Amino acid sequence: MRPSDAAVSGSRRRRAPRDSRVQDRSAWWQTAVFYEIATISFQDSDGDGKGDLAGLLSRLDYLEWLGIGAVWLTPIYPSPMLDLGYDISDFCDVHPEFGTLEQFDSLLEELHRRDVRLILDFVPNHTSDQHAWFTESRASCRNPKRDWYLWADPRPDGGSPNNWQSRFGGSAWQWDEQSGQYYYHSFLREQPDLNWRNAEVRTAMADVLRFWMRRGVDGFRVDASAVLAKDLLLRDNPPDPQAGESKPPPQRFRNIFTDDRPEAMAYLAEMREVIDEFENCVLCGEVQGKTDRIGHFYGHDKPRLHLPLNFVLLDSAWDAISLQGNIDAYLNAIPNKAWPDWVTGGHDKHRVASKLGPEQMRVLAMLVLTLRGTPFFYAGDELGMERVPIATDRITDPFEKLLPGYELNRDPERTAGKNGGFSEADPWLPMGPGIEKRNVETLKDDERSLLWLFKRLIALRRKEPALAVGAYIPVRSQNDVLSFKRADGDVAFLVALNLVHEPRRLAWDGEGTLLISSHLDDYHPALLRGPILLRPDEGLIIKLGR
Ligand code: GLC
Ligand code: MG
Repeated sequence: MRPSDAAVSGSRRRRAPRDSRVQDRSAWWQTAVFYEIATISFQDSDGDGKGDLAGLLSRLDYLEWLGIGAVWLTPIYPSPMLDLGYDISDFCDVHPEFGTLEQFDSLLEELHRRDVRLILDFVPNHTSDQHAWFTESRASCRNPKRDWYLWADPRPDGGSPNNWQSRFGGSAWQWDEQSGQYYYHSFLREQPDLNWRNAEVRTAMADVLRFWMRRGVDGFRVDASAVLAKDLLLRDNPPDPQAGESKPPPQRFRNIFTDDRPEAMAYLAEMREVIDEFENCVLCGEVQGKTDRIGHFYGHDKPRLHLPLNFVLLDSAWDAISLQGNIDAYLNAIPNKAWPDWVTGGHDKHRVASKLGPEQMRVLAMLVLTLRGTPFFYAGDELGMERVPIATDRITDPFEKLLPGYELNRDPERTAGKNGGFSEADPWLPMGPGIEKRNVETLKDDERSLLWLFKRLIALRRKEPALAVGAYIPVRSQNDVLSFKRADGDVAFLVALNLVHEPRRLAWDGEGTLLISSHLDDYHPALLRGPILLRPDEGLIIKLGR
């Protein structure tokens, strides 16, 4: 039986499409709203202060109520947890603190029953040093798995093979006394890099993908997909003349011999072939670098990622002209038929609500849910969660432990949100001030809250093909108002977003029906004629015509 047959008859069931008009013309991952969850911070069920699968399972009503179309789980695998589980000691099991494979299966089944897909984090670049493969590899230079990792001899003076730096600081080479060589680690020394040039490694990792797809998962987010291949000649990375002292030391190099190598692209194409053995699975991926490189991650002759994750909105200055310029630059940088995506948060990024403030957070919600492309939210963004100050003795993130003082700490965005009481116990990271107000129960009771705005916008997007899959037509942004149209057949919408805390006039001579104001009240008449006065921090969606 081919894997796809097995998949169809097994847990991969065909689900009735929710909106056939849109679904007939697009893949599920183009229209679903993705929601990233770090299991450890979502819902605790067993009172150990850490979220787990059973906790998550008990909160699925909430995801359904919100209208989430797909969940992305950060690593749930056995791990010493030195890097939020990105240090994996077994790719094909569940960390006992999170639950069991059986609980995972139940979770998946429940999600699918609610028409919500599930993608997992796939971490191909490295394992934990506790992984059985590494134990074998480091046992001796003649071990059959020696070449599964990147080993190199010292320089004649005994020093590390070259100047490559770990992202977390210091040399990326770790001396192994027992076997008399250095091994390479892009991240922590407890995260040795796999050798992707070795075909056995690639086969083993393909089997990991198949293991989870046979269980029924709907795809993966590929971690650190740009660093899979390193220069065979081990040439030094040149210093970056533009990176000043304010940058952390590892970011003062141009990583041309370790990042974004052509071979890494070929490995992504191989992964995609494995994904395509199964029906309807998606491959998303963390990519690094500038917008002008992102197109390559989609692939040319051979497809690579369906959705290279795009952080343009998070990185952009928050004003109408910059946003329009950056949105256009990104849309121009991806191949013609490529499907865009927009990420507004994640376990590595500072909380966007802290950057924008509560008023503009509502504008961001309207922007992301009306742009053409798949939205990716990070659990808690819909509550307006902000960065939580972390006392020194509670820091867990290796970035902050190893490179203090550069604002790299990711703990502030990894705290739990209060979802009807996250845990009976003290949570693994402290909850932020304001949690009494910023939690699901409280915001659900307020139909004008940010949470309701997310819910309403997601529902609107699901209902209107023009918003989900229609064309994106930029409108010249001026006077601090970012605006664009979305159109499908003879249905068209105008989206107008006021990016400042003052009223602004929108010079527009059309007419249309107001569908929603980001303020969620009845201030404007239903039928609008231009020009329009936008209130401070207000976004509008107007259905054009009569
Ligand atoms: C990716 C993850 C990040 C992790 C790193 C090392 O960048 O998103 O959280 O620290 O890989 O695994
Ligand atoms: Mg728990």
